[in-house]
Amino acid sequence: MSVSTAAADQSLCTPLPVLGRDVTVPLVTGGEVTYAALDYAASAPALQRVWDDVAAYAPYYGSVHRGAGYLSQLSTDLFENSRVTVAEFLGCRADDQVIFTRSTTDSLNLLAAVLPADCEVFVFETEHHASLLPWRDARVTYLNAPRTPGEAVQTLESALADRDPYGPALVCVTGASNVTGELWPVRELAAAAHAHGARIVLDAAQLAPHHPVDIQDLDVDWVAFSGHKLYAPFGSGVLAGRADWLQASEPYLAGGGASRKVARRADGGVDVEWHDSAARHEAGSPNVIGVYSIASACKALTEAGFDSLVAREQHLIGKVRDGLAAVPEVKVLSLFGDDAPRVGVISFVVDGWNSSHFAAALSAEYGIGVRDGLFCAHPLVRTLLGSDPQSQGECGAPEAAPGEKSLNAIRVSFGAGTPDEHVERFVRAVTELVRDGARWNYRTEDGRCVPAV
Ligand SMILES: Cc1ncc(COP(=O)(O)O)c(C=O)c1O
Repeated sequence: MSVSTAAADQSLCTPLPVLGRDVTVPLVTGGEVTYAALDYAASAPALQRVWDDVAAYAPYYGSVHRGAGYLSQLSTDLFENSRVTVAEFLGCRADDQVIFTRSTTDSLNLLAAVLPADCEVFVFETEHHASLLPWRDARVTYLNAPRTPGEAVQTLESALADRDPYGPALVCVTGASNVTGELWPVRELAAAAHAHGARIVLDAAQLAPHHPVDIQDLDVDWVAFSGHKLYAPFGSGVLAGRADWLQASEPYLAGGGASRKVARRADGGVDVEWHDSAARHEAGSPNVIGVYSIASACKALTEAGFDSLVAREQHLIGKVRDGLAAVPEVKVLSLFGDDAPRVGVISFVVDGWNSSHFAAALSAEYGIGVRDGLFCAHPLVRTLLGSDPQSQGECGAPEAAPGEKSLNAIRVSFGAGTPDEHVERFVRAVTELVRDGARWNYRTEDGRCVPAV
């Protein structure tokens, strides 16, 4: 390490304390190591601070919006204050609504359920399935994968130019790719959408844990994200943004909490008056622990400061990318090219290796948890690999011969709780596996590689 890099490293913040940082796992080759959780893009570990807040609240747990007792009142306050915290975290407009859901998938399906009649939807084929699939009952246009951020804006502009400017339209775009980690030009896409009378929803599932997301600064109409990727894995998510479409529609779920007044009609039916607040789409008893944990994570990240979190993450990204670049058999997947700004999500293939086999060896021989496969973004991975990803192939046998196209990829992802040692161990493991091969035998079980023990 050069002197200047060492000096720069000292200025980096330390990782935020997360649960599981001391957990050890057995290695097939003998002994134990501290688990290196490098699958943050799937689910990030809980921040210690979030866990402590939840534990402190747990004895006071009570029903929300449903009880006269002290703990119900306290829990209701906590729930509603969490809404305010999330609104502040996202820089919401005064008349935006924050709706608590189960996840990003749930949030986007909720938005799909309230689209005005004849709404057109525009979505890039590169999206995660959670943003790609909910619109299939609408008039949806799937846009081809762009190869630069500028091309993304042009592609959207041309698609919107052909539409009826007076009809409702929605653009759905991800902030950071769950496959390449690359940032999308959200502000520019929002400007293009609005210039053509369309609205835009930001899938911030991968962006919010790594970067500040300001709804007004980005000028997007809605933002969706999940607690479990934001260090708050207690089963809640968020949809925040414009109230009008949400309030003009029937509730997403019909039931208690969403209804203000219900009465039998003379003809034997039932009349319902729905709430016109966020409660309209929050029927059923809410997950107060999940919601409170999200608010706690929002506060913890804000207090830690995104400037220093981003600086530390970029330092880790540099280590991983430099390490992978030194292994000629490794190819990192990228849509926008090497210089594109990105978060700590990196997918790659290894020439001559089955991706499931490689990921299994990282786990069993090095105690490193990554993900392999297609990452719920099949069209994007297909574009990036230039292959038709259908099967994993047999374990041990590469799914593609050396020099041929892989069918699946390996993804390493990290964030605010990741120590340097985890990414250093990962780079060392990749280098050794490619150079020396696996030290253990693996077999296929239910389509996945597992150690043959
Ligand atoms: C970009 C993106 N959008 C949406 C989702 C769906 O999130 P969830 O599974 O929490 O609903 C994911 C999950 O990986 C994602 O990466």
